Amino acid sequence: MNYYQNKTIWITGASSGIGEALVADLIAQGANIIISARREAELQRVFSENGADANRMLVLPLDVGMHEKLHDAARTAIDWKGRLDILINNAGISQRAFVHDTNLDIEKRLFDINYFGTVELTRAVLPHMMKNRSGHIVVMSSVLGKMSVPMRSTYCSTKHALHGYFDALRAEIHQLGIHVTLVCPGYIKTEVSINAFKADGSKHATLDASQAKGMMPEVFSKKMLKKVAARREEFYVGGIEIFAVLMKRLFPWLVSRVVRRISPVIRRFKTS
Ligand SMILES: NC(=O)c1ccc[n+]([C@@H]2O[C@H](COP(=O)([O-])OP(=O)(O)OC[C@H]3O[C@@H](n4cnc5c(N)ncnc54)[C@H](OP(=O)(O)O)[C@@H]3O)[C@@H](O)[C@H]2O)c1
Repeated sequence: MNYYQNKTIWITGASSGIGEALVADLIAQGANIIISARREAELQRVFSENGADANRMLVLPLDVGMHEKLHDAARTAIDWKGRLDILINNAGISQRAFVHDTNLDIEKRLFDINYFGTVELTRAVLPHMMKNRSGHIVVMSSVLGKMSVPMRSTYCSTKHALHGYFDALRAEIHQLGIHVTLVCPGYIKTEVSINAFKADGSKHATLDASQAKGMMPEVFSKKMLKKVAARREEFYVGGIEIFAVLMKRLFPWLVSRVVRRISPVIRRFKTS
């Protein structure tokens, strides 16, 4: 039997991109899935395109930035099948803005979704997993959870912070048989750059070239699910960009110089 068969799995950010690809693969592998995101119409589309079987899928619209609603949502998710085996914290928003343009409200909104949304949803399901003495928390970080690049200062910070938090949680709950996996994608061809916040909180609305050339989410999903099933603690999936993390560990000064040279701040001030 495969790792996911008959398991109940909750995926946030299931209305597009990586989350949507995970839904298709997990349904094919015999899991029962709770799908969450803000756009209910998109969740209904994902539900229809994956068999529309209410025994196998529960549509649970949710804004992970509304922290006061997460515990009620967790109760609904757990009550559906009477248990929750895996939580995939995938919902997230990226950023395309310079530090000097960005105000504190936008910084807080990114942290509310990417960091506190993930932390609080995990805390909402944790007592259930601790009682069962089993479970698996999966967290969608990024290569940018290990290194930082221009115009993503807050996004990188939210993803770096997830590593600090979930490495500690892993150590706390290891003895209870609950696993924690941090997933670090490179460039995946989704709408992440289109949905990214600009300095004023509006959408970047552009499919960046690096994203357009990225790995297809359907390819990413299969690679990711294999490594999650192997209970890997942390791993990277993507193209050549994932080697930047190793380079940073071995030659931090070199990566720092490369990142500096590509800084769009320099280009902006040279041209303005
Ligand atoms: N694509 C990449 O290259 C890449 C690389 C590294 C990491 N990642 C990470 O992968 C994850 C998935 O992103 P993606 O690439 O698939 O981008 P995407 O296509 O933009 O998907 C993002 C998903 O998150 C949901 N979401 C956003 N804000 C939410 C909120 N407040 N509450 C609930 N759901 C919310 C969106 O649905 P609604 O709009 O319907 O809420 C959507 O389903 C993110 O955490 C991202 O940081 C992506």
